[in-house]
Amino acid sequence: MAKEIVTIPDLGTDDEVDVIEISVAPGDQITEEQGLLVLESDKATMDVPSPVAGKVVRILVKEGDSVKTGSEIVEVELDGDTEAAAEGDSAATDDDKSEDGKAGQGKPGADEAEAQPEASQQPTQQESTQQEPRTSAPAQDEVFELPDLGTEDQVDVIELSVAVGDQVEEGQALGMLESDKATMDVPAPYAAEVVELLVKEGDKVGAGTPFAKLRRQAAEEDAAAADAPATGKEPSAKEEPSAKKGPSAEKDTPADDEKAKPDSSSGAAATGRTERSAPRPPEPLPAEPDAPHESEGGKIYAGPAVRHMARELGVPLERVKGSGPKGRIQKDDLTRFVKEAVGRSEVPSAGGAGLPPVPDVDFSQFGETELVPMTKIQSLTATNMQRAWLNAPHVTHFDSADITDLEKFRKSLKDESERRNVKVTPLPFLLMASARALRAHSQFNRSLHSDGKHFVQKHYVHIGMAVDTPRGLLVPVIRDVDQKGLWELAEEAAELAKKARDGKLSAAEMQGGSFTISSLGAIGGTGFTPIINVPEVSILAVSRAEIRPVWNGKKFVPRQMLPLSLSYDHRAVNGADAGRFMTYLTEVLGDLRRLLL
Ligand code: COA
Repeated sequence: MAKEIVTIPDLGTDDEVDVIEISVAPGDQITEEQGLLVLESDKATMDVPSPVAGKVVRILVKEGDSVKTGSEIVEVELDGDTEAAAEGDSAATDDDKSEDGKAGQGKPGADEAEAQPEASQQPTQQESTQQEPRTSAPAQDEVFELPDLGTEDQVDVIELSVAVGDQVEEGQALGMLESDKATMDVPAPYAAEVVELLVKEGDKVGAGTPFAKLRRQAAEEDAAAADAPATGKEPSAKEEPSAKKGPSAEKDTPADDEKAKPDSSSGAAATGRTERSAPRPPEPLPAEPDAPHESEGGKIYAGPAVRHMARELGVPLERVKGSGPKGRIQKDDLTRFVKEAVGRSEVPSAGGAGLPPVPDVDFSQFGETELVPMTKIQSLTATNMQRAWLNAPHVTHFDSADITDLEKFRKSLKDESERRNVKVTPLPFLLMASARALRAHSQFNRSLHSDGKHFVQKHYVHIGMAVDTPRGLLVPVIRDVDQKGLWELAEEAAELAKKARDGKLSAAEMQGGSFTISSLGAIGGTGFTPIINVPEVSILAVSRAEIRPVWNGKKFVPRQMLPLSLSYDHRAVNGADAGRFMTYLTEVLGDLRRLLL
């Protein structure tokens, strides 16, 4: 089998152009005129059709390469017919070239005429005999006037889809017009070369307006007819969008994409009118929005304007479903893709909520770094914190409690504490006082119902306490705090804190809280704004107590003041409620006798 290296035909420019798509793969059986590559220059995208039929042996370029006229692109093993034709061509001068017994088929001269009826066996030979007049046919220039546009009004030329010198096929869009109601293509009335454009973008035009001067190539029709038996044997060649004789501009023309839709009510059919303003039936969102879409045959069909628009919008064309013939991607497809993508990002979802993503930064560019894996607890905490922060509108109320007397009392318990082997810190006092405050202000002992119409009022008082552990933050829950005494609370708090640090808490011991206390008193700080442990509606932050001068109405006196801050979910709790809750709490902490009331 003979092989042939296919090269880039005359591009009409010495400039290099980019290979943006390889349309075939080694092993592919290709037909004559089948697109091999798509090239892109500054101005246009072009198919490079194969001049021969056969099997692709090697691809000699790759996407992204720059090529020019004459560059070798693909090696093709010629199939029998093409080879025979090639041999037939040369047989005129060298009859002995045939190696596979096809010499008789390739006979030139008088025998050729006899061979003609067997056109299906000798398509390319037949074609070659007909190609002669194709180039020598007398050209005729004709002014193409716009047909009936289906409206008396003048419409705008919004796009010229071809340039002078372009070869256009019958039906290929020469330009695009736009009225108040619709956008319509202006399809070429026949295959021709564009000799002159008689309008420019922005012009107003109507039926009868001279649009372009076209050079009809008389032989073109004959050649097309002669192609029929050849392509009848190779149907896929017919399916290619163009039967170009060289690299011709593949403009972004809906006529190319969306051939004239019949419109019996007007002359719109003559102009390939497409009702772009008409709403499309809603399409369901793809189950996998990011899954690539491929046009028929795995290729992406899109014209230069669409490719340009996709580049500007950053849309990967392989993810866009084309609605044109053979899955060709059109501007509307891009618009729809972008709308759907935006819509999806507006749907609140885990980690989404329409928030712009935090960019990934390569910190190693600023110095040495290492990746430290998160513990499971840290990872869960991160998710929970974000969920709580995004879902609950937080307000934080600040106050401070005078715990001078409380501290005196706490210290007075030292001996008993040692005897009981229970350490009493301010925390059990805070638990007791908070439980009393939750009973007195029941709106803090609620959760919001998911129906948005109810609160879930809790008639128990279970309080969580934040514990700092080496593996992360844990919140064990002390149950029925309102029913327990100081020693019991001190003991249970210490036990749960130890269990947390030892990694021995059960899931049940961390569930069911209706309020949380987060104490950084032993660590320091004058105040902080804690994040609510949703679905609870409030959390108390405790900072470091210190002796401050406090005005007693007559003079400044030294008092031990405990900074407290209460974050609450403003959907469940109002600021005034928070003020009352904190006043109550600080009063109890300021005078423990109030617990008796
Ligand atoms: N002001 C001043 N001193 C305080 C204080 C406060 N608010 N709270 C506690 N202290 C003192 C204690 O009295 C104790 O001192 P002492 O030994 O002289 O009596 C010392 O600080 C250490 O107390 P600690 O052992 O931490 O007990 P605790 O009952 O105060 O706290 C935990 C127990 C479990 C709450 C605590 O160990 C913890 O883990 N806190 C971190 C909570 C956290 O990380 N919160 C942030 C969440 S985002």
